[in-house]
Parts: sequence; C-alpha cells; structure tokens
Amino acid sequence: MTRPIRRIAINTGGGDAPGLNAVIRAAVTAAVNRGWDCVGIRDGFNGILTPERYPLGGVVPLTRDRVRGISHLGGTILGTTNKGNPFHFPSPRSDGTVQDIDRSDEIVAYFERHNIDALVSVGGDGSLTIANDLHRKGLRVVGVPKTIDNDLDKTYTTFGFDTAVSFATECLDRLHSTAESHQRVMVVEVMGRYAGWIALHAGISGGAHAILIPEIAFDIEKVAAKVRERDAEGRLYCLVVVAEGAQPKRGQRAVLASAEAGHAERLGGMGEHVATELARLTQKDARVVVLGHLLRGGSPTSFDRLAALRFGTAAVRALEEGLSGVMVALAFPNVNYVSLEEVAGRMKAVPPDSDTLQTGRDLGISFGD
Ligand code: F6P
Repeated sequence: MTRPIRRIAINTGGGDAPGLNAVIRAAVTAAVNRGWDCVGIRDGFNGILTPERYPLGGVVPLTRDRVRGISHLGGTILGTTNKGNPFHFPSPRSDGTVQDIDRSDEIVAYFERHNIDALVSVGGDGSLTIANDLHRKGLRVVGVPKTIDNDLDKTYTTFGFDTAVSFATECLDRLHSTAESHQRVMVVEVMGRYAGWIALHAGISGGAHAILIPEIAFDIEKVAAKVRERDAEGRLYCLVVVAEGAQPKRGQRAVLASAEAGHAERLGGMGEHVATELARLTQKDARVVVLGHLLRGGSPTSFDRLAALRFGTAAVRALEEGLSGVMVALAFPNVNYVSLEEVAGRMKAVPPDSDTLQTGRDLGISFGD
C-alpha cells in the first residue's frame, strides 16, 4: 500500500515549449486543492545536483500565489536544461575534459530526505526516459508530454506543437507576398529534430509548394522540377518548407554540432543547402528564413494552453489514484495514462500512410520524392 501524498515536486526538462507554465500552474493548483505541498526543482534536476549555482534555492516552494497568472506565459518559471541527465551527468575532470557520471541516487536520496512523495516531470523524450528510469529506482513519478516537435509516441499530440505550427503558418502567410513580389524561391527551415510534424502541418496550412521532411528522403532535382513547373504555369515564386532533420537522397543530414556529454546533436543548415541548390538548378533568386527558436517562444495557443492545463491536473489525479511510471497522454478527445516504459526511447515519426501527408500530395505539394 503506497503512502498518501503530502508533498510533490515538479520539474521541467529539455527544450522549453509554450505551455510549460500552464502545466505548472495546473499541477500546483490541483495539488494545493488536495492539501498537498509543492516544490519546484530548478533547471531539470540541476537544482538538486548543483545547488551552489542557485543562491535563491535550487528547489523552491510553489505556492498558489507563485503560480497565479502564468498560464499564458512562454518559457518556464522553473528553468530547464537539456544538459542535466542525472544518469549521465556531465562532470569536469581535473584535466579539463568532461565525463558522464551516474548521480541518480542523489535524486532519490534528496526526495527521501525532504519527504517529497512524488515527482511530476514535464518533458520530451529525454526527460521522460529519465522519469522512467527514476520510477524504476523506486521514485513515484508521473510524466507530462512536452515538445514543439510532436515526436512523442502514445499521445495524439504534445503541448507546444500547436503554438509552433501556428507561428510557422503565420510566417508562411507573410512570406507569400514578398516571394511573389520578387519572384523568388523562399526556403523556410523549421525545427522538429528527426520528425517532420512541424514542417508538414505548417507547410500544408501555410500553402507551401514543397515540403521536405526527415521521413521522406528528397531529391533536389524533384524540388527544382516543382519550381520550374510553377514557373511554366506563370506562378513565378515558390515556398519550400524544410525540416531541420530533412535528408537528401544523396547526402547527409545537416548537423551543426555533434552529440556531447548529456546533450543530443544539434541540427541546422539544411535550409541554406536547399536554397543554394535550388538557385543553382533553377537560376532563380532564393532566400532562406530559419525560424529556429522563434518556434519555441510566445504564448501558448488556446489549444496548447488547454492541453497543458488538462495534463497538469491529470498528473495530480494520477498520483492521487496511486499511479506511478505513467505519462499523461491525449487519446483524443480524452486524457488517459500510458506506461512510461512504452514511451521512453521511442520516436513518433510521420507515418507514410498519414492522411495529412496524402492531403499534401492531393494538393499538389512536392515532397521531393
Ligand atoms: O526538441 C525541441 C527542439 O527545439 C528541436 O526542435 C531542436 O532540434 C532542438 O530542440 C534545439 O535545441 P537547442 O535549444 O539545444 O538548440
């Protein structure tokens, strides 16, 4: 029989996404309404593992007042990091190099010492894998799925994705007129890591003429053919959306920095490559816009805000029901719980039989294949 909850901790890990503050507010409010106490861990688990970096406290009280009026704010009041995996914590050696060490026991010990009964961990694939590993070490943990990339399995969507897609769509709307006025090829690079969700959804919504996603290796000649086809029809401009993880049939992904201790590789630069090649092959003027981290900022859309509020309260309900090792998920239209084991280390790519993909094809959009 698990002991009743009196005190929970919340943390946010990985890249930030619009809606994190809404989850924090929802979880704290639902917990306080049950008479529970809440604390927040700063920057993933760094607030516990490197307390010296936090003069105002690495673990801070989260009262009802502290979370008032934050649902609409981007970012996270707790801070976040994608360099703080407690199982592979980057630690400097005396010779200046960095080694990964397992400091996860310190997290479990901290929870015991401070009478923290459970953790609500809000994050993407990396953070939820950590959450699952902590659950296996005996911590009571509920995960909340976050990422603008929408690449988490077992949930219809993650919060942050709709905001990113909405912003990218607005950017495409704005680029149509300047591209047309100058009769240019306009290439828009969007984030998404190894999944093409943002590129696909924003590209179709924003009326792109070609969309290049990691799931479909592209032939640049086919994209150039699309530009020429439009030219022949008298439509002298072209909008091409390129996912940062898109891969040419003959060539490599564009990597800005390789993976290092506790940090995944950084993608970027495929937009520039595609623009240069299209200019060469079509003799047209081409420009690149990299949306990058702009996709992670701003207020969450009402869809993301509601999803985040639903996820935050559902995480507290899960703990109240005695669950652990689960992730709150959207099984449209309802929220449900799935095992973290089924989510950890899995990536949700755009399936080849996706009707959204087919929608793009039926609309005449080129996927470069
Ligand atoms: O996972 C979210 C994300 O924004 C990816 O789309 C992108 O590849 C990555 O994070 C960028 O990470 P960083 O903030 O370390 O540049």
